[in-house]
Amino acid sequence: MRIFVFLLSTLLGTHALALDLENGEEINEVCAGCHGEFGQGGKQGKYPRLAGLPAAYLAEQLRLFRARQRPNLAMVEHVDERQMPDEDIADISAWLARIQLPTTLPPVDTQAPGFDAYARLMAAKRVVQIGQAPGDTARGRRLYRRECASCHGRHGEGKARKAIPPLAGQYTAYLWRQVKLFLNHRRIHDPDDPDEELLADFSKEEIRDIFAYVSTLDD
Ligand code: HEC
Ligand code: HEC
Repeated sequence: MRIFVFLLSTLLGTHALALDLENGEEINEVCAGCHGEFGQGGKQGKYPRLAGLPAAYLAEQLRLFRARQRPNLAMVEHVDERQMPDEDIADISAWLARIQLPTTLPPVDTQAPGFDAYARLMAAKRVVQIGQAPGDTARGRRLYRRECASCHGRHGEGKARKAIPPLAGQYTAYLWRQVKLFLNHRRIHDPDDPDEELLADFSKEEIRDIFAYVSTLDD
């Protein structure tokens, strides 16, 4: 399949990377054990949501895990060179980036003829709705707009082309763990300016308020 896509893109003169989404879906069977069948994440952010994150961002994180430049004990065995060559990284990243998860389940009449309880259950599994995090959302909004929106987007949607992840729709507990990694210099926040510590000037309360606001962005 990959070879076919590659030939086709060569013939058409496009420079698009030859992606194999079926391979991506297959790889996801391993990831699903922790991140969920649809990349929805789980255990309240022990496992982050992956669905809908920018492909370039996902790929970069997988390369960082593989190079042991971003700590992740849970994933180490799944990302060594043999398990995760660059082609696989491209395929799984593209596959996950395409998944859109709803934040609400549309109302249905469970008594109506033709109601499909199984389909309903499957649909419910795809819903990711971040619970309201504690803090002052009004102050968080002001701080977010001034200090974070230029990179993470006005509505927390991230910037796919620049490989900047969304913060909206991501689990609060997971975001907090990343703040600690940034502050402990175990993860680099801004790869374009690695020495810049973007979060060091904020108090814990300010970050709490920002995340309180961010947790409302997917409502
Ligand atoms: C054994 C559990 C486990 C498995 C299997 C697993 N992961 Fe993870 N993954 C984690 C944990 C835990 C984290 C969060 C690490 C942290 O908090 O810094 C994570 C983080 C990530 C991140 C970073 C997300 C972000 O927003 O930066 C990506 C990308 C990722 N995993 C991709 C994958 C892919 C792709 C697979 C399948 C090949 C996979 N993971 C398999 C446990 C797992
Ligand atoms: C100069 C651009 C820039 C600014 C400003 C910025 N960030 Fe980021 N942020 C990034 C980039 C780039 C990444 C991804 C880092 C990587 O590739 O590993 C990131 C990642 C994160 C993550 C981890 C997300 C994940 O899925 O793992 C958190 C949490 C975060 N930023 C919080 C914030 C907060 C809160 C603010 C405002 C106080 C902020 N950032 C301001 C560029 C920025």
